[in-house]
This record gives sequence, C-alpha cells and structure tokens, in this order.
Amino acid sequence: GSKRVVVTKELPGTHWQDILTAADCRIEIMPGTEILSKEEIIALIGDQCDGAIGQLTEAWDTDTLGALKAAGGTAYSNYAVGFNNVDVAAANELGLPVGNTPGVLTETTAELAIALTFAASRRIVESDQFMRSGQFHGWLPQLFMGQLFHGKTVGIIGAGRIGAAYARMMVEGHKMNLVYYDLYQNESLEDYVADYGALLEKHGEPAVTCQRVDSIEELLKVSDLVSLHTVLDENTKHLINEERLNLMKKDAILVNSARGPIIDENALVAHCQKNPDFRVGLDVFEEEPAMAPGLADLDNVVIVPHIASATVWTREGMASLAASNVAGLLQGYSLWDGADVLPFLEGDIPQAMPNIVNASEVGIS
Ligand code: GLV
Ligand code: GLV
Repeated sequence: GSKRVVVTKELPGTHWQDILTAADCRIEIMPGTEILSKEEIIALIGDQCDGAIGQLTEAWDTDTLGALKAAGGTAYSNYAVGFNNVDVAAANELGLPVGNTPGVLTETTAELAIALTFAASRRIVESDQFMRSGQFHGWLPQLFMGQLFHGKTVGIIGAGRIGAAYARMMVEGHKMNLVYYDLYQNESLEDYVADYGALLEKHGEPAVTCQRVDSIEELLKVSDLVSLHTVLDENTKHLINEERLNLMKKDAILVNSARGPIIDENALVAHCQKNPDFRVGLDVFEEEPAMAPGLADLDNVVIVPHIASATVWTREGMASLAASNVAGLLQGYSLWDGADVLPFLEGDIPQAMPNIVNASEVGIS
C-alpha cells in the first residue's frame, strides 16, 4: 500500500486489516500492552503518516493530532465510542476528521451493565468469595439478602443508544418502571415502554411506565436502580457527587459503565462506607487504572476493568469500524450520516465512512 496507517495497539480479528489494505494502506501496529505516552505516539507517527487508529487510554490533543497533521495525516479514528480522550476542537482547528465506533458496542455494553447490576444487587462476588473460603455451613434465612428489581423503578441518566438498550433490558426483562434524564427526548424508547405496558395489561399484569424527568435530583430520589450512560465532558464530570448520592435511597444500586469521572469516586467510597446496603457496580474509574483509596476494600462494590464492550463480536466490529473510518477518509469519501454499520462485519469493504464525530453534538446523550 502507498499510504501509511499507524495503529497504537493490536486489534482483534483480521477484517479490519482487509479494509485498510483494500484502500491501498500499509499498516504499522505498535506491539505490546503498555499505554503509550504522547512522546511515544509522536515517535510512532514519525515524519510521514496518512492516518492513525488510537485508543481511549491515549491523549489525542494538539500535540499528537498536530504531529499526525504535520506528517501529512488526514484521518484519525478512536477505537472506542467515547472520545473524551480526543480534543475534538483541536482536531477541527487542524482540519483533521475524528472517527469513533458507535453501534456495534451498544448491546454488548448494556449487557455488561446488566451483569454489574445483578452482581451488585444479589451480592454475587461476596457470595462467591464466601463459598471459596469455606464459610458456607448450610442454608440460612438471612444469608446474603439483596434487592429485588421486579416492579420497581430504574433510572437512566443519558438515554442514548446504550442507555436505551439497558433501559429496555430492565423494563422488559424485569417489568421495571422507567425514569430517564437526558437533554433530548427519546421518543422511540418512550413508545417502546408504552407498547410493552399495553402488552402487559392485555395479559392481566400491571403496565410499566416511562417518565422523562427535568432534574437529576428527582430521578435519584425515586429510583431503586440508577445506571449512568452519558458522555464525559465538562458538564458531566462529578455529575454524581456527595450531595446527589445522599438523595438516593439507602438501599439503591448504582451502576457506571460510561466514564469514571462522571462519579466523584472519593465521595462514592465515603457513601458506601456509611451505607452498607447501598450497592455499586463499576466498569470505569475516575483515575483509571487506579482506584480511589478504600474502594477495593468495600464489600458493597463490584469492580471490573473497563470491559463493557469486550465481546469478540463487538471488539472485532469496532476494529472494522475504526478501519472504515480511516479507509473512507483516505479514499476521499464524504461524510456519511446514519449509515447502517452492521454489514461491514460480514466481509464487505465499505464504500463510505460511517462515523465521524461532530464537535457540536457533544452533550448528554
Ligand atoms: C469504551 O469505553 C468505549 O468508549 O468504546
Ligand atoms: C453513546 O455513545 C451511546 O451509544 O449511548
């Protein structure tokens, strides 16, 4: 290939490489698992580089995007749906388009959030440790009592693709009433819950309800379970702080599979220490990969290492999308809005570029 594309980590699958090769690219992959510093990224880009695929753990800012631009680069894609690690304003100034990988991780991420939800509510990790350490001496009426969700209220903060998928799973699977907070109304989610409520009534069961609320405070007060699905930006940093944690029910469940800094993690640790029946599932951390002091000592918190999108199908799909973003740009395709991305997973070489972040659309969604 005549165009040089650098990839800062090995990606799963092979289809993504076919996409770039078909677009006349030669691919250079940084081996290893170390998180790259800005200096290492700039060294990898070198003097001549047409495009790059980077990771959410890397800073793509004026320096690194500037190095890509200076090396003749005209395309960058994040290997993630989230792009808080990318300075989109700087990219716009440089005239460098930035891609991300939505769609293929929606259900996968929601499923991990569900796994954390039940691990927290039914105390799965604590119980597992109890078994393994030989403490189970027979059934008891009060052993590891947790929380029931059926018929209660689930609150979603950020009802975009992932938040809505999570909401549908909890509403339909567990007949929970839904409240959501988002800057935008999600009509299709509201319709879905209304239709499902009608179906339940037809079968002689109580209907479920859906309510969009104007304030996060209101949502926190009424919810038995709260799951976070917003982007991270200056408006959502520490969205969940000490004051708001105190509004929540003492035995509520809180799940974060979005971005760590959305929660004030020190305040969360203090809250969990004071409220043993409050339970939390976390996939992401404020100072990732570090955890706030005390977090790992808490029995009422379940913690996993940022794996929400980690299924084989999704991670290979994200690779295909990131490659499509770069290949499309390098071939000069124009922006393509609202494309159905899934066919790209089945062996086609895409003819356009599916996902380019638009700085003006960043907000709670
Ligand atoms: C993962 O966190 C992603 O943003 O894709
Ligand atoms: C966010 O990008 C989402 O898919 O909800």
